Amino acid sequence: MMNRVPLLLFVLGYSFGLPSSLSLSGDGTGTRIIGGDEVVPTSVPYQAAVLLNGTFVCGGSLISTKVVLTAGHCAVAAVFAVVVLGAHDLRTIESTQQRFNTSDILVHENYTEFLENDVALVLLPEAAQLTTSVQIVELAPTSAPSYTGSSAYLTGWGMTHDASDTSPYLLVRPSNVCTSGVGVVGACHSDSGGPLVVDGVQVGIVSFGSGSCVDESPTGFVRVSYYRDWILEHAGV
Ligand SMILES: *[C@@H]1O[C@H](CO)[C@@H](O)[C@H](O)[C@H]1NC(C)=O
Ligand SMILES: *[C@@H]1O[C@H](CO)[C@@H](O)[C@H](O)[C@H]1NC(C)=O
Ligand SMILES: *[C@@H]1O[C@H](CO)[C@@H](O)[C@H](O)[C@H]1NC(C)=O
Repeated sequence: MMNRVPLLLFVLGYSFGLPSSLSLSGDGTGTRIIGGDEVVPTSVPYQAAVLLNGTFVCGGSLISTKVVLTAGHCAVAAVFAVVVLGAHDLRTIESTQQRFNTSDILVHENYTEFLENDVALVLLPEAAQLTTSVQIVELAPTSAPSYTGSSAYLTGWGMTHDASDTSPYLLVRPSNVCTSGVGVVGACHSDSGGPLVVDGVQVGIVSFGSGSCVDESPTGFVRVSYYRDWILEHAGV
């Protein structure tokens, strides 16, 4: 937690397309952005910070005025979540920020510690106000393409250097997408739950990565289109 860089960072220029049978190593605790740059403040208005139990930082995305989409492993142990919208620097109270405190957290019923169905919704106690700094992101439809070879945009407040956790092995499933780590870009701790976006449409949720975040290994994301019906059923969007 001491090494956290609380400024919003982004990575551009991922490419997709790893075979679905590929084995990846992952520490299962979340990921952070490596090889990123600081974004123009509030230029990613759908980005949410989700502070589990008010402290542990994950990313998320605003998918309706009352619902934030995040990773299951972020939310599963939380009693309450403080959601911060419109933020750039989490250390300060910025005029663009809207903060909510909620214990209304819904983790996918078939979430497992192996990060299967690693998806969750955080329901806000009242509607967020849509401003230039706070906007809803469009989600990839059920019929979305695989996005193989697409460039995507990843943002989060994760750390920018390595903590080198040990890594169990995880399998990439049809419910996941992966990005290439070539050039040492990717997600690392505290970016978990954050949005991966192609052409303004959210296609992934940061789920897992390598224990070493700077070894050019791929990052694993929950495939939004795979969970589109579940999100519709529980979030109403
Ligand atoms: C939140 O608090 C509860 C109860 O105090 C604890 O069991 C849980 O592990 C905490 N979760 C996180 C993510 O810190
Ligand atoms: C959020 O609400 C919980 C109870 O649901 C409370 O324990 C906690 O102190 C609140 N945190 C903040 C930052 O308001
Ligand atoms: C969860 O798993 C059970 C048993 O495999 C299945 O019947 C159910 O449809 C699953 N739920 C979701 C939302 O996928």
